[in-house]
Amino acid sequence: EQIMKGGADHFMQKEIHEQPESLLQTMRGRVQFQRPALGNPYFNPRIKLGGLVEVTETLKRCRRVMFVACGTSYHAAMAARQTIEEMCEVPVVLELASDLLDRRCPIFRDDSCVFLSQSGETADTLRALEYAKAKGALCMGITNTVGSSISRSTHFGVHLNAGYEIGVASTKAYTSQIIVVTMMALQLSEDSISKREKRDQIIDELGQLPGKVRRTLMLDGTMQELAKQLMSQHSLMFFARGYNYATALEAALKVKEVSLIHSEGILAGEMKHGVLALVDENLPIVVPETVEALQPVINIVPLQLLAYHLAILKGLDVDQPRNLAKSVTVS
Ligand code: AGP
Repeated sequence: EQIMKGGADHFMQKEIHEQPESLLQTMRGRVQFQRPALGNPYFNPRIKLGGLVEVTETLKRCRRVMFVACGTSYHAAMAARQTIEEMCEVPVVLELASDLLDRRCPIFRDDSCVFLSQSGETADTLRALEYAKAKGALCMGITNTVGSSISRSTHFGVHLNAGYEIGVASTKAYTSQIIVVTMMALQLSEDSISKREKRDQIIDELGQLPGKVRRTLMLDGTMQELAKQLMSQHSLMFFARGYNYATALEAALKVKEVSLIHSEGILAGEMKHGVLALVDENLPIVVPETVEALQPVINIVPLQLLAYHLAILKGLDVDQPRNLAKSVTVS
């Protein structure tokens, strides 16, 4: 086990710090970064997710794209939703797998459903997939596990290529999931002239992302100090909006999951509609910055570190939090 941790104290710590490399692996061979002739207006950089090639036209024409997932995978879909909406101009809905099943949610033959799951084995997501297939929808899987039940049962799919994730708290799979959905948006909008400038900007940024995440990881010591200040709190709140609402939800989930501190992610625009009543001078608030398409990938990193350090300072088992399993194979 110590060898598998590769010098880190815990799998969660190792996997947080692996993100520059895991993101690179997720993009490798799929994103064309270099502009052969800089300034050439006819050069359109390509994104190629092999699994999407044969269904690109069907995806572009679908009634709506429905993302179905649980937990962190659901947050990843939420983080990238706006990019799909903006680049593809298609309605996007997000569904928690268990809730979709409870509601017997209407799904149509011209819907495209995307099932996001790190393990590819989550029972609720798998059951929702069988439900959507029975309704005749086109079903796509995005998993980190080749040969998993979800990757075998979907009509087509994309592998995350983030590398094996062992810590129960999902970290590197989350950032790779956001990148895969972002690449999907870029691939589907390849022919759109009106999206060209935004598309080029995002592709340029993708090339710089591993380096930026590496720099963000240098905040490790700062987040450890912040964790010392926050470790005796009973409750934390993460406020954000836009692309980063998902960051707030995901940060709160990480803190709950590994440090056992109650925490909430709150859409900043909703604050005055009720939550404000909880805010006093003693309540710690963490607000991630900016609203760009790839900011959720960078902004979650210090908050993953914060959750990790809170758990370590409290002496908790960060890789195997109480009551939780890496893959939830029961409904
Ligand atoms: C994440 O830290 C959690 N362990 C959990 O929310 C997880 O993301 C969820 O159970 C879904 O798992 P999956 O991605 O393997 O389907």
